[in-house]
Amino acid sequence: MFERLPGFRDFYPDACAARNFVFRVWRQSARKFGFSEYDCPVLESLDLFREKSGNEIVEQLFAFTDKGGREVALRPEMTPSLARLVGARANSLKRPIKWFSIGEQFRYEKPQQGRLRSHYQLNADIFGEAGAAADAELMALCLDCMTSLGLGHGDIVLRLSDRKLWMLFLETQGLAGPMGEEILQVVDKVERRKREQSLARLESLVGLAAEPLLTDIEALAGIRKFDELTGFLSRKTSDSRLQASLEERFMEWADILETLRCMGWEDFLRIDLGIVRGLAYYTGFVYEVFPRQGEMRSLAAGGRYDGLIEKLGYAPMPAAGFGMGDVTLTILLEQMQLFPRLIEKPDLYGIFGGLKERAEAHTDIAALRKAGLAVEYPLRQVGFGRQFRLASASGARFALIYGSEEVGQGQVRLKDLLSGEELLVARQNLTDVVLRGMESGSLSGSA
Ligand code: HAM
Repeated sequence: MFERLPGFRDFYPDACAARNFVFRVWRQSARKFGFSEYDCPVLESLDLFREKSGNEIVEQLFAFTDKGGREVALRPEMTPSLARLVGARANSLKRPIKWFSIGEQFRYEKPQQGRLRSHYQLNADIFGEAGAAADAELMALCLDCMTSLGLGHGDIVLRLSDRKLWMLFLETQGLAGPMGEEILQVVDKVERRKREQSLARLESLVGLAAEPLLTDIEALAGIRKFDELTGFLSRKTSDSRLQASLEERFMEWADILETLRCMGWEDFLRIDLGIVRGLAYYTGFVYEVFPRQGEMRSLAAGGRYDGLIEKLGYAPMPAAGFGMGDVTLTILLEQMQLFPRLIEKPDLYGIFGGLKERAEAHTDIAALRKAGLAVEYPLRQVGFGRQFRLASASGARFALIYGSEEVGQGQVRLKDLLSGEELLVARQNLTDVVLRGMESGSLSGSA
């Protein structure tokens, strides 16, 4: 006997139906926003993820050497592969490039609630558009996916932050460049770590400036109002170049906030500079969506990553996007009982008097299935009573009854299992009668 590997899931039919329901809603949302679906291999060369995804993810790679001696890895995320696809055809693709995919991702994490070693992600990304309108459109799509599943602003919150603003703030403190990146790694963990730990890490980076820096970081991360954010940062510098850069960035913030407000997403938004994202490639607006209740990992996360395509060796191109996982989302939807009844039922169930009638019925069943109807029947010949019980247990709307008498007259008895109504139908008209009955929801008048 074999056990499933830790951190992986089996999808028995009910779980598979739930997963497909989520995928269906994701696809519908992506299409509403004009995104085209793409796909690519789950196995990539290891180098694609080294440096491109950031240290944390690289440590979690499922990597091995293949039989041809290549170093390969199962993808931990979609973004580097997507950048490879777009970069390779950059000249021939019509811009803006708006693409989405739904695919499995693999990370060797410690399995725990909401965090597994394999998960599915919706990825939606826009390439070739540097303006804030693209960021706003992506956030709107991200939220549309969730509200289409039944979640409201009382259930989830999008925490909006900005790496560019963080970098400008660090510049006001004389801490730009690689040092700034190191400090952002500390900011990323401030929420989860004890204060002394963050302080010790900052001291190793900036020495005595650590305490006031941490106080500023905490203040910035605590700001929830746009005018407080602009006020706080404007007070940090008297350098006119920096002030101009800040002003320019505030305009982009105002643009995003106003666009999302007009779209009706204001109540889902929270200004929250406590988010900086662990992944190495983000350069601008970043965000994560969380359930408002509980301590769950994020439902979705993303941001702008204008440097990644160039980092892969292609011509530079602005890019932004997000990933939405199925694990935390499914837990939340289950908790909130938002999954509809997902049992798949046949349209019709065949009931046969004997082997002769069963053989006759096969011709009709094949024709019904060809017409797109779902038909089931017992694979073994059993008594009439048992077959009726099977028919009603299947949840089918209609039973098709092939008794010797009916078949002898070229007919079949069609029974509405909801109303009990019955109709004798000439077999050559069966498909038409059933289709009419399905459409009108009753047999009366469908003969
Ligand atoms: P990420 O934050 O690493 O971003 O993952 C995005 C989402 O995937 C998370 O919010 C979470 O729902 C889900 N997720 C990630 N890891 C796991 C896990 N081990 N178990 C269960 N769920 C998980 C990215 O992957 C970026 N590539 C997103 C992106 C797309 N950025 C730009 N475009």
